[in-house]
Amino acid sequence: MGGVSFDGGSPPPSYPGKLTPYVLLTVLAGAAGGLIFGYDLGISGGVTSMAPFLEKFFPDVYERQQSITSTNQYCKFNSPTLQLFTSSLYLAALFASLAAGEVTKKFGRRISMMMAGFIFLFGAALNAGAVHLSMLILGRILLGIGIGFANQSVPLYLSEMSPYNYRGRFNICFQLMITIGILCANLINFGTAKISGGWGWRLSLGLAGVPAVIILIASFFLSDTPNSMVQRGREIEAKALLKRIRGVDDVDAEFNDMLAAKNEADLVESPWRNLFGTKCYRPQLAMSILIPFFQQFTGINVIMFYAPVLFQSLGFGSDASLISSVITGVVNMFATGVSIYGSDRWGRRSLFLEGGVQMFIFQSLIAGLIGWRFGVSGNVTDIPFWFAAVVVVCICVYVMGFAWSWGPLGWLYPSEIFPLEVRSAAQSVTVAVNMAFTFIVGQCFLTMLCSMKYGLFIFFAFFVAVMTLFCYFFMPETKNIPIEEMTQVWRSHWFWKRFMNEPNDPVNKAIAMSKLRDRV
Ligand code: BGC
Repeated sequence: MGGVSFDGGSPPPSYPGKLTPYVLLTVLAGAAGGLIFGYDLGISGGVTSMAPFLEKFFPDVYERQQSITSTNQYCKFNSPTLQLFTSSLYLAALFASLAAGEVTKKFGRRISMMMAGFIFLFGAALNAGAVHLSMLILGRILLGIGIGFANQSVPLYLSEMSPYNYRGRFNICFQLMITIGILCANLINFGTAKISGGWGWRLSLGLAGVPAVIILIASFFLSDTPNSMVQRGREIEAKALLKRIRGVDDVDAEFNDMLAAKNEADLVESPWRNLFGTKCYRPQLAMSILIPFFQQFTGINVIMFYAPVLFQSLGFGSDASLISSVITGVVNMFATGVSIYGSDRWGRRSLFLEGGVQMFIFQSLIAGLIGWRFGVSGNVTDIPFWFAAVVVVCICVYVMGFAWSWGPLGWLYPSEIFPLEVRSAAQSVTVAVNMAFTFIVGQCFLTMLCSMKYGLFIFFAFFVAVMTLFCYFFMPETKNIPIEEMTQVWRSHWFWKRFMNEPNDPVNKAIAMSKLRDRV
């Protein structure tokens, strides 16, 4: 029902060019951008489960954790300030990604990446040397600003630098780097927790500076994208650069399309007003808000942020907790590879639907297991090994489902459905909504666990069921459809077509223009 049959209309463009070493170097910059984001997603959970860190900055949580009289496992880590340590980063990233949109447009992608690297480095240093909670939070805010700039500019940089037929793979590779960043963070936490003297957490937080240095160096040496140069009126330079990065002299077709795209974009006075005010953009607007909202309401960041804390709440020892989160990190990374392989072969919808069903089943199982063992009181001290193992397996299968569906496709799908004239505004909406709900989950999870108990997992399972139904009815397939032809997908969809028969519809406008031209 949600799928459409569409044979593409005009064939996709084919520009000459190859994958040059220069373009491969740009992948390095992209890789560092993904690593930064992933490292920060993964590092806070392990650090907040380390006793010396808790003792120094969150003594109340530390006391509760050590106390043998308080046995309510659900509430062991409940603390708004502890959650603020994790979530403040995403609130800062939300605002920074909106500001980064302007910087990236006016001064180029490279400047945004450079700013990301600098700010990120400061944040990592502040966190590593923190002696007071305020330094920690300020450091996290700086990291968030860095992430806002990197997430806005790096994917754009990658997709503009890459030959058109590599664009999809480059895009999901960014997500793969995020998962590698998360895994590195899990492994580093496992190692630093063992450092005697209780300063291991400083190393964990400080090592975030490594990908920041890579992105900083890369942005000094790499050039800006030809598209960005065209956008800023530097056409001659842009054409010379295009020849260099494509490794061929015949770049006229691609260059002319770039000029045409720029001219078209110049005609749009306010992409924001267009996006929010024009009926024919409703389907895309709905997707740019709902997809990141649903992605975060899968509950994935409960695992990514708080796995070690969650495992400790379930009665695991601190070593076992960190090992378990390394296991989920490995599963997350490999399953993302499945999506790279399958999204162009099996299509986006089948991955979304299969992943949704899998997540629903295993999240419900997790809720059932925890409810059965911990009940409402959460008063359990003795957890048998088999129980812990079954919970870890269920969490892994759930993470797997996310990692080949809503994880990468939650970024890929919105990025390929927006027409050029509203693309950057809609992309900013997607990033901002994603960061907003990442913040909300990060800020509320431990409190919700304390009040909703195992019901919290039922809550997320409910949303997974809703989003899977939404996908079935409302998300058309976008596999193998050129971006320029994407409007057709909405025009032939049983529900969304009602928004598309507007005089302002870009396709209707084009038809009207060509009729006018014929008459002249
Ligand atoms: C999400 C993150 C999540 C990560 C896990 C990303 O697509 O946006 O919030 O932590 O996947 O791999």
